[in-house]
Amino acid sequence: MNVADRATAGFRQRYGTEPAGRWAAPGRVNLIGEHTDYNDGFVLPFALPLRTVVAAAPALDGRCTVWSELDGEPVEFGAAEADEPGRVDGWAAYVAGVVWALRADGHDVPGARLAVASDVPVGSGLSSSAAIESAVLAALVDLGGLDLPAGRWPRLAQRAENDYVGAPTGIMDQSAVIRGRAGHALFLDCRTEEVEQIPFDLDGAGLAVLVIDSRAPHRHADGEYAARRKSCEQAAATLGVTALRDVDVTGLDAALARLDDDETRRRVRHVVTENQRVLDTVALLRAGRVRDTGPLLTASHASMRDDFEITVPEIDTAVEAALSAGAYGARMTGGGFGGCVLALVDADAADAVAAAVTEAYAERGFTAPGTLTVLPAGGVTRLG
Ligand code: GLA
Repeated sequence: MNVADRATAGFRQRYGTEPAGRWAAPGRVNLIGEHTDYNDGFVLPFALPLRTVVAAAPALDGRCTVWSELDGEPVEFGAAEADEPGRVDGWAAYVAGVVWALRADGHDVPGARLAVASDVPVGSGLSSSAAIESAVLAALVDLGGLDLPAGRWPRLAQRAENDYVGAPTGIMDQSAVIRGRAGHALFLDCRTEEVEQIPFDLDGAGLAVLVIDSRAPHRHADGEYAARRKSCEQAAATLGVTALRDVDVTGLDAALARLDDDETRRRVRHVVTENQRVLDTVALLRAGRVRDTGPLLTASHASMRDDFEITVPEIDTAVEAALSAGAYGARMTGGGFGGCVLALVDADAADAVAAAVTEAYAERGFTAPGTLTVLPAGGVTRLG
């Protein structure tokens, strides 16, 4: 059964009636621009064909009940619980967080019954959290007839995650999931939230993006993410700028000379050079030179590995094996300490690259990776 049918079937079985509608939101990968979003910088993610679907109908008692195929135990909460960050926890916190963020923004949020099904793997760094937030947000906006233009959705969904769930993430994931467009990568300026849809015609170029799920356990990912963010913010303060976005590659050496510890210098160098790599990638894509972006992807990986120090052995192994097997470029995507690698490959070489990564994993005794070829897909939508 496909994911939309599973959501509908789950809804019928759980609530004994038909849903009023179904809303779908994709996962994402980030082509390039890692740990730049919370530094007011640039990112270039795209939405995946894997989606989370929410089947929903209004509930007259004003309460929310949410069931997920991944859990089976429904979670119910009212306005009081939603108004208190932390009261609802686990996966349902992403749902309660959206209710909270909408209420905090002054909306009269309807009660709802929701059933969630998902093809976005949880814990793989493909933004299953942004997918559920965005699908729920779209459902509640429609069911409640709320006056909330889609341009404001990413910040709202991000607030759910930052302030209700308690994860200090940036604006990239929700933007990709909400604003993604098929056949395009989303060039986002995280300071102004301006976007440009950049044609990313993999098919036309005979290319594919191979996504490799490293299956590495997320070791200390949350604490390390928060630590990276903090050191970037402290560096910006030391340099007297609003955010590291305000340092560009021409001013990098001068900025580094003003920082007195080596670790901070490396963190800053990653962010500043990564912003430039996003701009360079965008320029190549605008010129239709998709294949030539490969070295930028690989350079991004080296920077994450050596300067930002957010990779793990499984991830580095996947990147090296993909490159040895002929990928044009490869890099970790997402927050780090596990998650996925993406590799830019000839479409007809994708299977061979995947096999080479699987073999390299076996040699090192790692749990076998997951592999999947993807094309950029569209963002959140109502299915009917
Ligand atoms: C996670 C966060 C994003 C972003 C990336 C790193 O995916 O949710 O906001 O910071 O890490 O680029």
